[in-house]
Amino acid sequence: MKDAVFLRACRREPTPYTPVWLMRQAGRYMPEYRALRERVPFLTLCKSPELAAQVTVEAVERLGVDAAIIFADILLLLEPMGVGLEFSASDGPVIRRPLRSGADVDRLQENHPAETVPFVFEAVRRARASLASHIPLIGFSGAPFTLASYLIEGGSSRHYLATKRFMYTDPGAWHALMDRLVRVIVPYVNGQIAAGAQAVQLFDSWVGCLSPADYRTFLLPHMKTLFRAIAPGTPVIHFGTETAGLLECMAEAGGDVIGVDWRIDLDAAWQRVGFDRAVQGNLDPAVLFAPRAELRRQVARVLAAAAGRPGHIFNLGHGILPHTPVENVVALVEMVHEMSAQGATHQAAARDAPREEGS
Ligand code: CP3
Repeated sequence: MKDAVFLRACRREPTPYTPVWLMRQAGRYMPEYRALRERVPFLTLCKSPELAAQVTVEAVERLGVDAAIIFADILLLLEPMGVGLEFSASDGPVIRRPLRSGADVDRLQENHPAETVPFVFEAVRRARASLASHIPLIGFSGAPFTLASYLIEGGSSRHYLATKRFMYTDPGAWHALMDRLVRVIVPYVNGQIAAGAQAVQLFDSWVGCLSPADYRTFLLPHMKTLFRAIAPGTPVIHFGTETAGLLECMAEAGGDVIGVDWRIDLDAAWQRVGFDRAVQGNLDPAVLFAPRAELRRQVARVLAAAAGRPGHIFNLGHGILPHTPVENVVALVEMVHEMSAQGATHQAAARDAPREEGS
């Protein structure tokens, strides 16, 4: 397992081909998933370890990806805080009692994830047991800013105005909230590692709405504390979107692998992150709706931007969209494997070929 291609890439070791997995690889674009969801509500599915493990493993087998991600949701950790989490079919996630003040932060319930979300750890154990031994399992958590945005906005948001107003108006309560979230994320992530996850990803999906200066003031110290507390030896992927202005901050915060979305070229992003770090990304999920030739061209472009450097994990810049044709996703995975293996062969041949004088 230690030598799994995905884990080697996390450690920036050379690989025979570029590993690929896809955010939301188990989801509504898959007919098997939709069939299951007709019988089982989303939260029930997340809380049924046997079903969650099954969905996790099925996606890997269907797609031929190099890693599994445990089927769960970043918001599961918020429900036991007593804020009233619901998933409605039309509006997405809703927090019934969003935070409005410092007093609301103090009222948040704080219990150990082993007591509040034991089903996630059990799903990790079961998924690990039924996955092929060479396929690493990725555990995950939301990062503090993204979780706070749901707690404060009460759901998805466009401008994150309530979140920012809270942050600017009552920095003391904001920092207290960050502290609390870090205190619950650490055992949540480490618990997944203990249960059998080989890597973890922190989803800071909405952090890109912050200025770099605000990131440093309101977030960076908490992110550093969080990264330092994650069990050493397990690669951590640090993901966000619209982060072209924040990549240096995110790299400084921590993570062995920095997730990159498609709004920046991968080579430019890697340069800013630093080549001493691995990167993950960064195909636009919408390209999975393109004709095959365009998909191929865009895969080639991402691979060319990575330039065969060790430490690239191929992924989308964000999750697979609903209605994505499954056959295109399968084709993408095949293309990444095939094209990157050819590239690796070319590079090895170029390395091994006798150099011409003066070249
Ligand atoms: O990636 C995977 O395959 C693992 C499963 C996974 C889900 N959510 C399942 C899910 C993961 C890693 C997540 C993370 C997550 N959840 C994030 C961070 C990643 C991102 O997309 O930025 C966020 C912001 C959430 C919160 C969330 N959960 C939203 C906004 C929604 C509604 C929007 C949507 O896509 O439906 C969910 C629901 C959700 N989480 C679904 C799935 C498969 C769809 C629920 C359904 O079956 O109807």
